[in-house]
Amino acid sequence: MTIKAVVFDAYGTLFDVYSIQALAEEFYPGHGADIAVKWRDKQIEYTRLITQSDPHNSSGSQYFQPFWILTRLSLEYTLDRLKLNRQAGQVEQLMQQYAHRTPFPENLAVLQKIKAMGLTTAILSNGSVDMLSSAVKSAGMVEVLDHLISVDPIRLFKTSPESYGMVQQTIPVDKDEVLFVSSNAWDALGATWFGFTTHWVNRQGLPFEALAPKPHFSGPDLNSVLASLGH
Ligand code: LAC
Repeated sequence: MTIKAVVFDAYGTLFDVYSIQALAEEFYPGHGADIAVKWRDKQIEYTRLITQSDPHNSSGSQYFQPFWILTRLSLEYTLDRLKLNRQAGQVEQLMQQYAHRTPFPENLAVLQKIKAMGLTTAILSNGSVDMLSSAVKSAGMVEVLDHLISVDPIRLFKTSPESYGMVQQTIPVDKDEVLFVSSNAWDALGATWFGFTTHWVNRQGLPFEALAPKPHFSGPDLNSVLASLGH
């Protein structure tokens, strides 16, 4: 196996989506953890619902909305579902914190080491390019990521094959020369089905999906990617 490019999922993998729970807890005491989980689940559910239902024919996609909008709608739904008072200022502050998600502590050093190996690095995300750029900038990762690839131009979310196909439209590599890294098991599975070499970052110590096949590699945090690259 020769890996030429390492491509990362953004949310959950490079940026911590669940750390939002501290601010949610401050606004809605006793509900922070529940909000963080339900918000994320609803956000991903909306991406799947849209991509699965959209006819995506010659007249274009009908139901696609950028990830940022789906993120706001799923937060509003979550607060309504939990019967919490949805104040515009608080929704705005939670959204702003989402835009500047904290990176996991080991990430920057791992990305620097991967760049030092001479490999191409990229993000492939459901997020829009402006969302990704602000997160990458606030994490100090601009220098260590060669490409920020968003599904926005094709209006199909992961795990559609077209979304993973965007990597090869950007970087001239064969599928198995891509090490695709995600902490979302569903994303690691979709990428494995697509034909990438895959690494699942299992930060929460979860079992892998019951659907086969398993990813080629896995480990508890981003440092484990270095071992998958033989370092
Ligand atoms: C991403 C989300 C789905 O694509 O984790 O970055």
